[in-house]
Amino acid sequence: MILSRSLVAVSTALALVGCLLLASCPGSNEPVAGKDLFVNWGCANCHAAGGTGIQGLGPSLQGKAVNWTRESLTEYLRDPTGYAAKNPRLKEQGRGYMTPMPPILTKDEAAVARLVDHVLALP
Ligand code: HEC
Repeated sequence: MILSRSLVAVSTALALVGCLLLASCPGSNEPVAGKDLFVNWGCANCHAAGGTGIQGLGPSLQGKAVNWTRESLTEYLRDPTGYAAKNPRLKEQGRGYMTPMPPILTKDEAAVARLVDHVLALP
């Protein structure tokens, strides 16, 4: 009896560890929201969680939606440096930052689309 209880405890603990490692927890099939991708994918490290910007690391993204469409922003996120080289506004702005913006590398286009929509919806 005691043995089987501790076996249950051990297997529950292992299931939880597996869930953390593989992100296969119950309910994790739901797509990650753009707002959370912004944090998980490191955007917030340079732009702050609310997109308000961080001095020296990344500009504020608030009020920037006027400059972008879904298509152009998706293209930009895939190759920020290459895109900025052809865009006078970004080229100028980029001079103020020591570390260039890194590209998004995931193949999950649907997730990128949710991130793009989140950035475009920033106030
Ligand atoms: C290492 C810091 C860093 C990280 C991480 C980073 N960025 Fe940036 N981001 C920058 C810098 C620096 C610029 C300014 C580049 C320029 O103006 O040429 C920028 C510019 C931008 C712009 C253009 C802003 C404008 O003026 O229109 C957007 C949009 C953006 N980032 C979104 C994101 C998203 C989304 C992520 C996460 C996938 C991200 N960034 C990750 C540093 C970063």
